[in-house]
Amino acid sequence: MRAVDIIIRKRDGYALTREEIAHFVTGVTEGSLPDYQASALLMAIVVRGMSSEETAWLTEAMVDSGIRVDLGDIDGVKVDKHSTGGVGDKTSLIVAPVAAACGLLVPMMSGRGLGHTGGTLDKLEAIPGFRVDLSLEQMKAALATVGCAMLGQTAQIAPADKKLYALRDVTGTVESIALISASIMSKKIAEGIDALVLDVKTGSGGFMKTEADSRRLAESLVSIGNASGVKTEAVITAMDSPLGRAVGNALEVIECIEVLKGGGPADLIAVSVELTARMLVLGRIAPDKDDAERRVRAAIQSGAALERLGRIIENQGGDRRVIDEASRFPTAAERHVVKASRTGFITRLDAEGVGRASVALGAGRDRVEDTVDPAVGLLVLRKPGDQVSAGEPLLEIHYRDGARLEAALALARAAIAIDDRPAPALPVLASEVV
Ligand code: URA
Repeated sequence: MRAVDIIIRKRDGYALTREEIAHFVTGVTEGSLPDYQASALLMAIVVRGMSSEETAWLTEAMVDSGIRVDLGDIDGVKVDKHSTGGVGDKTSLIVAPVAAACGLLVPMMSGRGLGHTGGTLDKLEAIPGFRVDLSLEQMKAALATVGCAMLGQTAQIAPADKKLYALRDVTGTVESIALISASIMSKKIAEGIDALVLDVKTGSGGFMKTEADSRRLAESLVSIGNASGVKTEAVITAMDSPLGRAVGNALEVIECIEVLKGGGPADLIAVSVELTARMLVLGRIAPDKDDAERRVRAAIQSGAALERLGRIIENQGGDRRVIDEASRFPTAAERHVVKASRTGFITRLDAEGVGRASVALGAGRDRVEDTVDPAVGLLVLRKPGDQVSAGEPLLEIHYRDGARLEAALALARAAIAIDDRPAPALPVLASEVV
């Protein structure tokens, strides 16, 4: 089988066979397929798309590029949550301890921030000492002792995805329903979970900009999961503006701790409660969604979820004192406040623009190998829908470097729109549940 023939067939709009797809994934995993051919096929897939059958075969081949973890020897239902990626999207740090406090086992394998989106691993590493590079044995031990492990993809889990994702990132081939579906679901299927709740982001800060595309992505993810024996559900949530108020690694962890202490922004609470409640129902801890929501809120009110976060942090080498002493997080000494240019209503706070501003400050990465600064970021002081007066503070920027601030300011200012009349409010939880 010649790689060029596979590329030509996809370029011309034909469906690939299971064997052709397996050949491609094996070539990527073993390094025998040159990057230029892999990239050409990726671009052909982005342009021509894949049928649901081809997407399922791609996922299967990517799962088989590594091992399937067997968690059968640990008693309890293992349920994970995964987001397609957004700005200020920090729900994992709330959902995981709450779900574990409610009795689920949560093996949460997450990624790093890339482009304008943040990543759970970078946020966790803002906690001094926190280690995300657990081995599979350490992950199992964490599940057995604290009910939760928060870690990065190990080398044995879907190694093809690691290589493909790095290529996609630099070849403009991320935004494809087939490629995103196979990338996310190969990792989730390989990690050995029983059930999965997906948070599919829709809007400027997500990979899918329209609700129709987000719904198609959600349907694709859910059908792959269910066909592979992982009970899967997806919720579509808004990503037109940042979720919550904090964007930036340490700032976001601090906001999650606030939520676990019973405070925090309403939109972040709403999405976190919804996702965790669905996990409890899928994991058969709760008979229905209302009961599940009561359990989730009780775990927060009683302090059980916060206590669980402390145990997770401690178990992974982190300093749990950050929970009560925010000064233990890395902080950036400099502050700059962005003020309203006029009186009116905030009609837009563009998530992608704010995410890019955060990357410009150093909180995210343009390339996979870049390091991130855990301290820098932005606090959203006023949200879309709010009425503001000229000169009122809208954003507080935490920065270290003046040149980075200038770049971030240009992006942040362009992300804000103020008008005479309020724009219709978009629901945080889109109506679609797949
Ligand atoms: N997250 C992933 O893991 N893969 C993608 O392709 C997009 C988001």
